[in-house]
Amino acid sequence: MSVSRRGFVRSVGAGTVGVVSSSFVIGRGREAWAFSPDEQQQAQAQVFDDGFIRISSNENARGPGPSAIQALHRVISPRAGRGYPPDHTNALVDAIATAHGVPAGNVITATGSGPILAGAVHAFCSRERGLVTAAPTYATCESTARGLGYPVSAIRVDAGLALDLDAMADAARGAGLVFFCNPNNPTGTAHPRSEVEAFVRRVKERSPETAILVDEAYIDYAYDASVSTVRALGQELPGVFITRSLSKAHGMAGLRVGYAIGQRETLQKISQAWHLGSMNTLSAAAGVASIEDRAHIADEAAENARVRSFVVSTFREMGYDVPMPHANFVLVDLGRPASWFRDQCSQRKVTVGRDFPPLEQTHSRISFGTMEEMQQAMNVFREVLRA
Ligand SMILES: Cc1ncc(COP(=O)(O)O)c(C=O)c1O
Repeated sequence: MSVSRRGFVRSVGAGTVGVVSSSFVIGRGREAWAFSPDEQQQAQAQVFDDGFIRISSNENARGPGPSAIQALHRVISPRAGRGYPPDHTNALVDAIATAHGVPAGNVITATGSGPILAGAVHAFCSRERGLVTAAPTYATCESTARGLGYPVSAIRVDAGLALDLDAMADAARGAGLVFFCNPNNPTGTAHPRSEVEAFVRRVKERSPETAILVDEAYIDYAYDASVSTVRALGQELPGVFITRSLSKAHGMAGLRVGYAIGQRETLQKISQAWHLGSMNTLSAAAGVASIEDRAHIADEAAENARVRSFVVSTFREMGYDVPMPHANFVLVDLGRPASWFRDQCSQRKVTVGRDFPPLEQTHSRISFGTMEEMQQAMNVFREVLRA
């Protein structure tokens, strides 16, 4: 069924219950695309905001920082009519390399980190050497591997919703790639650097050919200093690399910038296996400005922490046992199906996260919007959950 944008708004605006399916409503962000390519057509027809509080895709409601916005304005000039990558992407690679203290040859950029995740599966997995991932976790690697017909071991998170390191390490013997999301989306749990390092060394000792991708998309939001980057391991060990996204703390989801850091040979395998996108001048310039503006990212993390405390403490006051997430979202055990909660909230113009199997009968993921949005959203949640 095709639903026009106007028709969608009308039906929701009129408070029509049940006309708009939850898969339609939640398919707004990139994540839903990664989860279910079949929903792409529906997602394309979706409205943006239109009176909805959209807290379903872990984007940053505050958008890019002032330096990034200024950089965007600066590059809107006739000069934008000239130059293909690497004209402008070299500056971005240099800024990333400087920020991380690594040589430029140890960095690749992409139009979001998503293409790097997909490229890693193309580069390192095969019908013989599968993917090891978690359940639930960010879905791009898994959906890419399944699409290619490669074996997938999706290891359920443990009782505390942390990655099951022992089971993942066991499954990694002979695997092509391990996807290790730290902090993990959607659970919001994170492992200290020492644990990630021990895991990586253990896997590489037993299975030296296995590549390991540590996805650090949310690491700027980690509140515990022991949770920090394992970038140095990528410099030391072949096939080990980290990925970062500018879609979260940098607030640049719509500008599509991501990158990876690892050994040059490791990264070359990815860029040779898969097209990482052709980055435009504006995204590159905004990326440079944002990466150089470390004070802004610290401010963003502080503001996220303020909103996070509010959301977590409000849920706790409502009687839910919510662990503090290392992220800009929270996964809450509501003891009811995520689809029910999503539909109830969407009728009240709040969109929350999709199903996350195997937790979809109990847990819902809520991304953090602005403080004002979350104050309104928590009122909606209170009303829905009281019912
Ligand atoms: C853990 C994780 N990795 C990667 C991505 C992809 O981000 P992007 O392609 O916008 O950089 C996301 C997006 O939500 C994510 O949650």
